[in-house]
Formats: sequence, C-alpha cells, structure tokens
Amino acid sequence: MIKYAIFMMLSMISVIGSGRVGATTAAFLMMGEMDNNITLVDIVEGLPQGEALDLNHTAAILGKDVNVKGSNSYEDIKGSDIVIITAGLPRKPGMTREELAAKNADIVSTAAENVKKYAPNAIVIITTNPLDVMVAVLYNKLKFPRNRVIGFSGVLDSRRMAYYASKYIGVSPSAITPLVLGQHGENMYPVPELSFVYGKSLKSFLTEEQYASVVKNTINAGADITNLRKFSSNWGPAGGLLVMVDAIKKDRKTALEASVLLQGEYGVNGYFAEVPVILGKNGVEKIVEVDLTPEQKEKFMKSIDAIKNNLKQVPESYLK
Ligand code: 2OP
Repeated sequence: MIKYAIFMMLSMISVIGSGRVGATTAAFLMMGEMDNNITLVDIVEGLPQGEALDLNHTAAILGKDVNVKGSNSYEDIKGSDIVIITAGLPRKPGMTREELAAKNADIVSTAAENVKKYAPNAIVIITTNPLDVMVAVLYNKLKFPRNRVIGFSGVLDSRRMAYYASKYIGVSPSAITPLVLGQHGENMYPVPELSFVYGKSLKSFLTEEQYASVVKNTINAGADITNLRKFSSNWGPAGGLLVMVDAIKKDRKTALEASVLLQGEYGVNGYFAEVPVILGKNGVEKIVEVDLTPEQKEKFMKSIDAIKNNLKQVPESYLK
C-alpha cells in the first residue's frame, strides 16, 4: 500500500498552458492513460480547473483511471517526470510564427524558471512558437542536459508530409518514413527524396507537380489551418505529443523527429533544429544523422540560417 502510494507520487505529467493545445494534449494523454496523474497549469483563474473537471468527467465516462488536476500554481508540477509547455500566444491569421517571438520568450522564460525549481528532473517538451527560438530560450533558462529539452513539431511536420504524399501514392501515411529538416516555419526543409516506403524514395512515386505540392502543403500546413478556421492547430500538436510521451514513458526507442540541440551533428553547433531522433526513457537518446548530398546540405543550412535570424528577434538576455 505504502509502496503503491510512493509510486503514485513519483510519476506525473504536467501540461503548462490550458489553451486549446494544452487542453487537447491533456485529453489525449488521459485517453491514452499515459499516467495516472495529469496536471494542467495556467495563469487564468478557473480555466485549468474547469478543463480538469470536464476531463475527469470524460475519464469517468471512458473508464480511464486518470486524475486530472487544474491549477494556477507552478508548485503543483512537483514530482512531474514529463512537463509539456504549451503556454504562449497563438498565431493569428496572417501572423508569422516569428512575430510571436518577443512576446512568447517572456512567457517561456517564466515557465522555465518554475520547471527548474519544481521539476528539476523532468523531461521537458515545448510547443510554443516560434518553436526553434522558444526551445532555445527554454534550454538556456533550464540548463538541463540536452536530452531532456525537446522542441515539438518534427512529428507534426514530418507526419503532415506523410499525409500529403500518401494521398498521391495510395498508401497509409504510416507506411511512409518522412524526413523534414531544420526550422519549424516557412523555411523548413521537407525532403521527399530521403523519405521512404520500404526503401523506395517518395520522390520516385511523385510527378514533379505532386512533389512540389507535397512540399508546399507541408510547409503551409499550419498556416492553412489557421487561415481556414481562424485559430491555429491543436489536434495535430496534441497527437504528436501523445506519440512522444508514449515513446518516453514506455521507453520505446521510437524513431521520430524533434527539434533538438545540435552539437556538431549535421555540421551545426549550438542551434536547435528538426532532425530524426530516437526517443526513450531518457528523452532524446540518439540523434540520427542522415547522409545528405552537398545540395541537400546547402538547403538544410539555409533553414538553419532562418533559425539564426529568428533568434535575433528575442533580446539576448533570453538566450544566456
Ligand atoms: C502548426 O504548424 C501552429 O505551428 C503550429 O500548426
């Protein structure tokens, strides 16, 4: 009994930010029974508590033995082994991810200080945009080892590409191993030639026109959703986060994409960028270095240049 109580206390997933992404993520985590305890935190009074109550009712309906707690206090993330940061202003129609940089750096910085204080051993995943900048802010404030600071979005971008390509070639998106490199933004680098269906390159299935449309749709996917419904994506991010948490919690050593700190990999040093990784109980357990041709390397570096440029949009104090 005592052992059981201790076990219960040792494990918890916290989600910072109870907007659409945060609440949907908590819902997916509850439905996937990723932990018995999920804590939702937000500064808006009543919001995380209300979402938690609704989710607890849902858990009772679905027969999930998961307790969701809503809180306005960071102290309640104590004991979390995984913290997901979704807090930040979302993109409005016509707004680029980059324009969000200055505002969201402040929000992420505060979240990071509190994670460091209350959940110093957690693996931290962030979705806040512009992603490649916010994950750098997070890393610099947390000073955790790089395997425990992960930028979301690689799963989203790569699976979006698999989705668009699958429509042309008549296979399930899950039959595709998609590769998208670099920035989560207008300068991301989708690479259909290095994406495969059983060793056969996606490029070989697509006409030139289809190839161009797969690349374009992948890059514009987030903006397309925002333009259509006037608010940004939540289902895709929550689905991607579920896949990532599942890989970590079950120590699956899954190969997927994430934005991680490169320290020499791909010839890049000191920048976060989307690359394939192996995800397991220690977070990022391995960075997979795909062989690139000189031309592909050049395109990847262009995407890295865009990340470098975006970093200039936040005051340096956030990056130290
Ligand atoms: C997306 O790509 C909003 O960045 C988010 O959907």
